[in-house]
Amino acid sequence: MPNVVITGTQWGDEGKGKIVDSLTSSADVIVRFQGGANAGHTLVVNGRRFVLHLIPSGVCHAGKVCVVGGGVVIDPLELVTEIDQVKGFGYLVNDAELIVSEQAHVILPYHKTIDAARERGLGGKKIGTTGRGIGPCYEDKVARRGIRMCDLVDPDALRARLEDVLPEKNLYLERVLGEKPVDLDAIVEQVREPAQRIKPYVANASRYLAEARRQGKSILFEGAQGSLLDVDHGTYPFVTSSNTVAGNACVGSGIGPTAIDEVIGICKAYTTRVGAGPFPTELEDSVGEALRSRGDEFGATTGRARRCGWFDAVVARHAMRTNGLTGLIITKLDVLSGLDPLKICVGYRIDGNDHVDTVPPTRLLERAEPVYETVPGWTESLSGLNRLDQLPGAARHYLDRLAELVGTEIVMLSLGPKREELIEIRNPFRR
Ligand code: IMP
Repeated sequence: MPNVVITGTQWGDEGKGKIVDSLTSSADVIVRFQGGANAGHTLVVNGRRFVLHLIPSGVCHAGKVCVVGGGVVIDPLELVTEIDQVKGFGYLVNDAELIVSEQAHVILPYHKTIDAARERGLGGKKIGTTGRGIGPCYEDKVARRGIRMCDLVDPDALRARLEDVLPEKNLYLERVLGEKPVDLDAIVEQVREPAQRIKPYVANASRYLAEARRQGKSILFEGAQGSLLDVDHGTYPFVTSSNTVAGNACVGSGIGPTAIDEVIGICKAYTTRVGAGPFPTELEDSVGEALRSRGDEFGATTGRARRCGWFDAVVARHAMRTNGLTGLIITKLDVLSGLDPLKICVGYRIDGNDHVDTVPPTRLLERAEPVYETVPGWTESLSGLNRLDQLPGAARHYLDRLAELVGTEIVMLSLGPKREELIEIRNPFRR
């Protein structure tokens, strides 16, 4: 049975949550492999809206197993809140439906303190992080001073690890950031109850996935954030602290690359970004405002207004290459109804060079002016459509042009937030 990675092709918020929720019916296991509670997947199920930050959105389907992989950074308090919320909605009835990797690193309160203090210190040059402690936790992981889930659920191991790491952490908090030091006993006490609540879910996720594959189960790997926020391939340093591209589905969940059959990129029909950093097609005018209000472009995690702009084919092509996409899913096409004409960025003009067709280093991208192609828009609402041939001609043309510029086929279209507002052209799970 095919295993499919879903990845964001822009700066996150492409509408992955809804797509994963929809594709889950074709998969058996759904895996998060990177990021943490900086992600926010908004779901509307049976008219009820809720946001998931850590648990894969597939949890809203009974009988599926959701895995939080070793590459994810987990805030235990957030995870417990989310488990309670999901159970409150009538999902996750069976504890075996959630597996949390024992290797995943734990976000502790001091990670959030450091995240916030650093952002304050950066003043006008801040990254605009979500404040969830993501960067400081990944730093500790790589520096080999992190706390993992296997430590969290074992009180002796937790205490021993904290004894090792806190002296340096406190020096940093006090001397460099001017913050209060943290107390070992207070941390142990703070996480004691959440750790016990999470313990039944903690397991060897890599082993579970290998066994699932052996049994012929289909796995859906759910990427968070987007390719341009990837710590290696994004608009560094205005990025998140993990690899968001499809390759990390393997590392972050403990499977080999040979297990992946398809990589599907989720792409909004226009572009948005939250936080700081270059965004060549950003529109700070009434069109940008129209996209924001029609598209309800406000962050699911922080509530911040998203910056909005025209579709950027250079960005999407970058995602095509860095992920090895086998197909695209275009979301929020309905938001463009009534905007005429539409513009598509086909390249950049940088320092007099009109032919830049790849994403350059950030300092150059900051100076990039978009080179636009103008195409006709459409006025019809797309509400209620469920076949490609029902779309207005201009919408078909717009989609054909996006596929051509990005260099891969469109396999699905999302025309609104509800589960049923979706046109399926090819289901990657049915090969
Ligand atoms: P961090 O991941 O909280 O460290 O934030 C780093 C950058 O990534 C900031 O610009 C955030 O706004 C952005 N970011 C992190 N997670 C998401 C997401 O899920 N969607 C969109 N942007 C995100």
